[in-house]
Parts: sequence; C-alpha cells; structure tokens
Amino acid sequence: KAEDGSHAWLRYAPVPNPNGYRSLPSTIVALNSSKSSPVYTAGQELQKGIKGIFGKSLSINDTGKGPSSVVVGTAEAYKKNYGEFDEADALDEDGFFLSIEERRVRIIGQNQRAALYGAFEYLSRLAQANFSLVSYVSNPHAPIRWVNEWDNLDGSIERGYAGPSIFFRDGYVMENVTRAAEYARLLASIRVNGIVINNVNANAALLNERNIAGLGRLADAFRPYGVQLGISLNFASPQDFGGLPTFDPLDPTVDVWWANVTNKIYSRVSDFAGFLVKANSEGQPGPLTYNRTLADGANMFARALKPHGGIVMFRAFVYDHHLTPSNWKNDRANAAVEFFKDLDGKFDDNVVVQIKYGPIDFQVREPPSPLFSALRKTNTAIELQVTQEYLGHQDHLVYLAPMWKEILEFDLRVDNRPSKVKDIISSARFNRPLGGSAAVVNVGTNTTWLGSHLAMSNLYAYGILAWNPAAQAEDIIRDWIRLTFGFNRQVLDTVTEMSMKSWPAYENYSGNLGVQTLTDILYTHYGPNPASQDNNGWGQWTRADSVSIGMDRTVKNGTGNAGQYPPEIAMMFENIETTPDNLLLWFHHVPYTQRLKSGKTVIQHFYDAHYEGAATAQTFVTMWESLKGKIDEQRYDEVLFEQVYQAGHALVWRDSINQFYYNMSGIPDQAKRVGNH
Ligand code: GCU
Repeated sequence: KAEDGSHAWLRYAPVPNPNGYRSLPSTIVALNSSKSSPVYTAGQELQKGIKGIFGKSLSINDTGKGPSSVVVGTAEAYKKNYGEFDEADALDEDGFFLSIEERRVRIIGQNQRAALYGAFEYLSRLAQANFSLVSYVSNPHAPIRWVNEWDNLDGSIERGYAGPSIFFRDGYVMENVTRAAEYARLLASIRVNGIVINNVNANAALLNERNIAGLGRLADAFRPYGVQLGISLNFASPQDFGGLPTFDPLDPTVDVWWANVTNKIYSRVSDFAGFLVKANSEGQPGPLTYNRTLADGANMFARALKPHGGIVMFRAFVYDHHLTPSNWKNDRANAAVEFFKDLDGKFDDNVVVQIKYGPIDFQVREPPSPLFSALRKTNTAIELQVTQEYLGHQDHLVYLAPMWKEILEFDLRVDNRPSKVKDIISSARFNRPLGGSAAVVNVGTNTTWLGSHLAMSNLYAYGILAWNPAAQAEDIIRDWIRLTFGFNRQVLDTVTEMSMKSWPAYENYSGNLGVQTLTDILYTHYGPNPASQDNNGWGQWTRADSVSIGMDRTVKNGTGNAGQYPPEIAMMFENIETTPDNLLLWFHHVPYTQRLKSGKTVIQHFYDAHYEGAATAQTFVTMWESLKGKIDEQRYDEVLFEQVYQAGHALVWRDSINQFYYNMSGIPDQAKRVGNH
C-alpha cells in the first residue's frame, strides 16, 4: 500500500505475530479525562494504536477496576482511584511511570502530558513488537524541550525546505489548524513541550487582534497534546507596531506596552509558553540601540511574563555581521562570550539564554560554544537545527544525532571539573532550575513534513535526546526505522548503516578538518562555494590563500577564541599537537603541507576525504536499491530519487572543492585525480 510519510513514526502498522502478545489488555481506562485534555488524547491514541498494531478494538472508560486493562492518568487521579503507588515520589515534572504486567498496564504521569508521553512510549514498544514485561520511571533531562519554526506571516519559511507554512498564510494565522494539531501530535510523541511558531526575524504584525485570535486557535489545537505555544518577538514592536516614540527597554511606557500585549495574549492563551527573542543580531533591533544591555532587554520581557509563569528564550546569537576580514584579530566566534559573559547573574529567573551549539552557525563540525562554560548563574538552553540549512537542505541524507551527541557529551572542564554540555543545560552542573533544548525544525506542508522521508529521523532523534541525552545515536535510529519502515532485518541494518555513515560522508565531501561547511554562505547556503567563505562581512572565514588555510584562533597569535574556553580545553585548542584533526582548521592557520596525526598533509587529506565522502554517497544508492520490494513503493521511489540526487551532488561537491584548493595551492594530488592531468 502507498505511504506518503504523513504519519511519520506513528504509523501503528500491524506487527508480524500479534498473537505472540497474549496479555493484551481488554479495556482502556483513561482517568478523569475531560475532552481534549492530554489524558483524553492518550486514551484515543491507545485505542487507535492497538487497533492498528493488533487489529483489536478496545473500549475506553474513564474509571474501572477490571483486571485486564491499560490504565492511563495522572498520579493524582491514579491515587484517587486505586490508592498509593510506590513510584509516585520518583516522578519529576513531565515524568511518567510505565508498568507492563501480564494482565495489567499502568501508565501514570506526573501531570497530564506526562501520561500522554507514557502512552506513546507504550505504543512505541508495541509497534516495535517489543512485548517484554517492564516497570520503570522515565523523567526528562531538562524542562525545556522546544522546537522553533522560522515561519513568516506570508506563509514562507526562512530556511525551510518542505513547502509553505502550516501555521500562516497571507499575513495571518490560518483558519484551518488541522495540520498544526497533527504536528503537535508528532511532537508530543517525542515529548517536545513547546512550539515557537514564527521566525526569529519576527514581524510585529503577529501582535494584531486577528493574529492573537489565531494564536488562540493554534494553542487550542496544541493543548490536547500538552504542547504549549510560544512566539518570536520583534524588539522594536512598541514603536513599529504600537506607535510609541521609543522601544527603549528601560522606558516605563515601553514596559507598560509589553505588559499589555502579554496580558492580551494570556487572556486568550492561558497556558502560553513565552517569548523567543533575537535582538541586535543581523540587523534586528535590540536594547543596544539605546545603550542598554542585552540583560536589560531580556528582563523587560521577563517582567511582562512573570505574573503568568511564562519564560523568555533570549538568543545568544548576537554578532556584528559587518566584520572587516582584513583584521586578523576579528572573529565572529568570539561574539557570544564577549556580549554575554559580563551579564552572568544579571538575567531574571525566567530568562533562558538560548545558545547555538557552536560558536558560528550550524556548521558541519564546530566545537561547542564557549558560552556554555561562561554562564554559571544564568539559565541556558542549546539550540540545534533539524532543518538542514548548511547540510544539504533535505536533499542530502545527514543523520544528525551523532553530531549532536558529540556536542552534548563534550566535557568543557569548567573549574577543572566534569562539565559536559548536556549537564550545563540541565540543572546538573550549575544548579540552574530552567534549561534544556530548542531545535529549529521548519516543517512545511509537504506530506513528509520535512521534504524527505529519511530526514524525519532527525526530528525523532531530537526529541529523544532532549529527553535523554544519554541515548545512543544508533539505538535511536534503529527504533525510528522499525517505527517508520517495519521489521525487515535488511531494511533495519541497511538504513542504520546509511544513516550512521551519512554525517561523516557529508563532512568529507563538504568542509573537513573544521574548516566549516564550505557551502555558499552569501545567499542559498546550498551547494559548494568555497570562494564565498572569505572576504565577506559575515565573519565566516577560512583564510585560505596560496600557501595556507584556517582561522588562527589561538591566544598567542590569533583571535584569542581558544582562550574563551576553560583552561584545560583552552590549552588543548591552543596547541596544534593537541587539537583534534577534525578541528584543526577551526583553531589554526597552517600550510597546506602541514602533517595531520594520520601522517597525511592537509591538502592530501582534503583530496582523499572528498573522494571518500563522495564514494560513500554513491553506495547509498545501491544500498537503498537492495531494499526494493521490502518497503512500500511510494517511499521506496521517493527516497531513491533523493539518494540518486545526493550521489550526483556529492560528485559536484567533491570536484568543486578539490579543484578550488588545487587552483589555490597548486599542490598536486598524489593519486593524480585532481588538477589538469
Ligand atoms: C542563520 C540563518 C538565518 C537566521 C540566523 C539566526 O544566519 O541563515 O536565516 O536568521 O541564522 O539563527 O538568527
């Protein structure tokens, strides 16, 4: 049967041997579930899932003591109906208890949405034909697990590759929110609890009456899934939209204006999550316009949100995009720490500084942003990108969990103590109560959500890692494959292998050794354009000339960026010998003939890696072709089309990059593939 991908990993396809599961409960009990509450949704979802997976229709009751039931509800409701249970004390906010016994299943959430998470977990096990009897508590790593959508009011999406917006059209929130609700369902199944629906380059017209009513509609559509709505704000709204003479964050009339707008939103959306703010970045207005600090700016929103319990996600992506390349000391990578370090401790409690994972901008390989180690008295969250802005849009398969894991597991050694990024964004390291993750997803109206079936593994992995960063990239992809494509062993192994090889392959045929992605950075962020990486005001530079390449970010001779890391890490990056090869050109400017730890020269590594990476991309086609007949035809054909495209484009990448550096350096390829032979 044809499958268009719209159900993503929630297909509830029949399992091969349904009778193997003898103890399937005979009724569903959804406790105290008022219509459109997450527990109600959980009941519906269990009914639908069990019907799909086992072909068995179960009835839903809202109370019941029958022995053969699956009971879902909040801890409070459970206790009222069945009495105390031991695991109650182990539940954190949004956490759930799942217990699968022979004739009884209990799914108990610390709150409503937690019960829904537990129901999705149970269904995920069933859909993967995992029928083992288990009993465990699962708590989130951090409270903030959001997605950001860069949708514009006109329906276009900045850096979106899957068609127009599912939220906006012609300047307004859409009337029909069906697809928005379906998206919330997908997100709830991976325990995402917030959606910021509009572009960080925000349009103040979102705050007009008609759009605030629209926000209400969207929030109503998200609420049954326990997903809260948030919006991006334009800092200059009081002036541009409100007609005030100023947007100075310390002007009392501005404060009052924001308080009014915020109250208006809450009167329509009582569980509104909060604001996301991009200020003083890439031409956006902000507090610096009035010589106020970024903290002054963030706290202004925090004050307006405080009475309602909302939070401000204030982005650390602040930099000057008119940097002069001729100055060897200039470095965009230094900007975040320079702007924020003196503000540590000056942000209100309901402000979270949202930090892109690396110091530049979603490149194929970056070290973690040093800002994670500089803010100890500030709530922080990491910003990841599911939409493949610099990583081949969704035309290239690049499974990102391994890359995110490297960042999350990176130990920054703050005060010479274990300080993994994942523990900094949770309360574990600095004891900050708020924190977590945000991912820029940019789904669109394309039935596959992201414009590619395989790209959906990244959205799935994002949710899993936001909940539990200790999860392994390979385990995540295996679960996703079983849920997405079923049980064929060859499909499982093949798609796992393709996915696990995909990030290294993309790195190999785009920008390796930490030189950045080498894609066009002036307009499209797509396809090879190494020449665009220098002499631009954006500060994304490689400093390639005829003899040498790389950014010198050392303290002794360069931009000093290495010194922004805590001492142990700074020392590692300061020295060529201790800098890992894959970040060599991020931190050092070296001759093309510099030897790597492998013994190869930098230039020969470039040539070889580009051939290797492009060759790997060719194998994805044959690997996928080996699955013909083992996957429904529609998805088989659509993925094949993508893989053939990627294989071709990988060759374009290989030859463009290699020829460019050959022309630049004049150094021949030892294997005689590159150049004028
Ligand atoms: C990148 C991206 C922009 C985006 C910006 C941001 O530079 O290309 O489209 O607005 O990041 O994250 O704010």
